[in-house]
Amino acid sequence: MSTRVRSFSKINLGLAIGPSRPDGFHALTTMYQTLAAYDLLTIEAHKLTAGKSSVTLTTNDDRVPTDERNTVSKMLDRVLALSGALVEVHIHIEKWLPVQGGLGAGSANAAAALIGMEIELGQRLPGAERLKIAAEVGSDVPLFLLGGTVLGLGRGEEVYPLPDLPETHCVVALPDLGVSTPQAFRDWDALEQERLTASAPSDRLKELSQALSASLCEPHSSGVFSFGEDRPGNPLLALVRTGIENDFEEVVFRQHPSLGDIKRLLVYSDNPEHAAIYAALSGSGSAVFGLYSCEDAAEAAEKRLSANGIASLWTKTLSREAYWGTMIEVDWGSFQK
Ligand code: C5P
Repeated sequence: MSTRVRSFSKINLGLAIGPSRPDGFHALTTMYQTLAAYDLLTIEAHKLTAGKSSVTLTTNDDRVPTDERNTVSKMLDRVLALSGALVEVHIHIEKWLPVQGGLGAGSANAAAALIGMEIELGQRLPGAERLKIAAEVGSDVPLFLLGGTVLGLGRGEEVYPLPDLPETHCVVALPDLGVSTPQAFRDWDALEQERLTASAPSDRLKELSQALSASLCEPHSSGVFSFGEDRPGNPLLALVRTGIENDFEEVVFRQHPSLGDIKRLLVYSDNPEHAAIYAALSGSGSAVFGLYSCEDAAEAAEKRLSANGIASLWTKTLSREAYWGTMIEVDWGSFQK
């Protein structure tokens, strides 16, 4: 038997970049949100009685490396070392998400491989160890061990579950260009250096943390908070009102002005009801997403993109419950006799 795991994607609802640290990474504050769009991993492990464990990777997409550069290989090395299992593993990655698009697909693949291997081995690794090896594989991997709406601190790997935002339509524009994350961080450093000479630095990490907390203090539809005449509202709207943004836009839109144009296409419509609730670059890009209050608005956004020759995918935000409830794809065929 094999295990099929949906490897969901993410967007960043706001991302503030802090100073570069002695280890070369940058301090971050971000709010991650998982999306329903996914790659599919099929994992098959056979126990061995002697010899050495081995891992083979295959994929439908020839841009994806199948050697030790793949995040799935990096994760598997760590899972096998920790579990002490002697196994022959084969993993097939059915790639549907863009490679290097800011949607965290490679990171999600690594988390999905960990979860699939635990099922195949019938052994769950200790919680703290799972988070530790996930962080070693990449800053964006641990968020996929929580799912839903997630606060990311540290270099993005320190994750905390937040109350889930309501399910929302999301249109992701997929421009035909790649953005190097390390280069985007270097460009940000250069910009900060310029600003330092001009004025005192602002504490962007603290500002975004306070904005995120403030949005959670607003009265929500849960009715938990009730202040005087305030009416329950959508926490996503409260979040947008706090002025969240993605710092990467400042440097990435300068390098690639077409991405700024795409964000405008996602945001504005002649029909005000079709305007985005919020739109932003995801991570360092190149994916740019828009969130919409209804199906009609999302459809109109897709049409604006396709009229301008820009590929897109239409999906929804995925709550923590839906993330875990739909992650394992059940092969009903195997239950029929
Ligand atoms: O952790 P991950 O593999 O995603 O990071 C890729 C690169 O992005 C790092 O090598 C580093 O150059 C940069 N990075 C950073 N600060 C972060 C996350 C990533 O500078 N918080």
